[in-house]
Amino acid sequence: MIGVFDSGFGGLTVLKSVVQKMPEYNYLYLGDSARVPYGERSQETVYEYTIQAVDFLFKKGCLLVIIACNTVSSRALRRIQQEFLPGRYPDRKVLGVIRPSAEELVERGCRKVGILATKGVVDSKIYTEELEDIDPPIEIFYQSCPLLVPIIEAGRQDEYRCDEFVSGYLSGLFAQEGAIDTILLSCTHYPILYEIFRRHTPPQVEILSQAPIIADKLEDYLTRHPELERRLFREGARAFFSTGSLETFDRLAGLFYGGPIHATPATLGASL
Ligand code: DGL
Repeated sequence: MIGVFDSGFGGLTVLKSVVQKMPEYNYLYLGDSARVPYGERSQETVYEYTIQAVDFLFKKGCLLVIIACNTVSSRALRRIQQEFLPGRYPDRKVLGVIRPSAEELVERGCRKVGILATKGVVDSKIYTEELEDIDPPIEIFYQSCPLLVPIIEAGRQDEYRCDEFVSGYLSGLFAQEGAIDTILLSCTHYPILYEIFRRHTPPQVEILSQAPIIADKLEDYLTRHPELERRLFREGARAFFSTGSLETFDRLAGLFYGGPIHATPATLGASL
């Protein structure tokens, strides 16, 4: 089974692309909607929450967990890989979304990239770190968009003035550098507002959503790791777990995933 974890519903955009590309595998989704947003939480808290989530997914039988959440990928992934996995689950894998996104920027030949993300991702400067040895260099400009996740997670993007917020955030980004060639929506939730981002961005600037990138890179990863791939069940099964309101999950998840979803309650332990 392949696990997909996000702080809320947003990771369903990633799961949707992954499932479209590789429908044969069994997938298990976990959204920690009871504790979303992670974007403004401390690094320690994000790490604690994430090991609870990863532990939950491994105990359900996942061999591989995709951390769809950028905030978690930038704040906790390395520590999970270096400290948590070796002692507890040495034969399982946890992968994030930052490295594959950074690789995509390189492969596309981007030069000046705007990263739209949560405060946690922006503060981590993770893309600058990932891309520091790239030659020719890619310049990275960050803009946090703190109001968007809470609005989307509450399913209130139609009633709030998202246009105004998005255009304000984009003005902040372009004020740093007018010649940005690519914008990366480095948050699982933002693709829901793609049309609004497009409307307020000059047409020559490309806007990338992560979900198709992650699907391509995961397929590539599985091809390169046959020892893991051959242990994955291929029954096309899907299961959804949420720590938050199941009624809200089932209602809003269709928007992110595109089909009827019935989530099962998940409780993430305070201690392991
Ligand atoms: N899913 C998170 C991400 O991609 C954003 C939501 C949050 O702040 O928890 O960064």
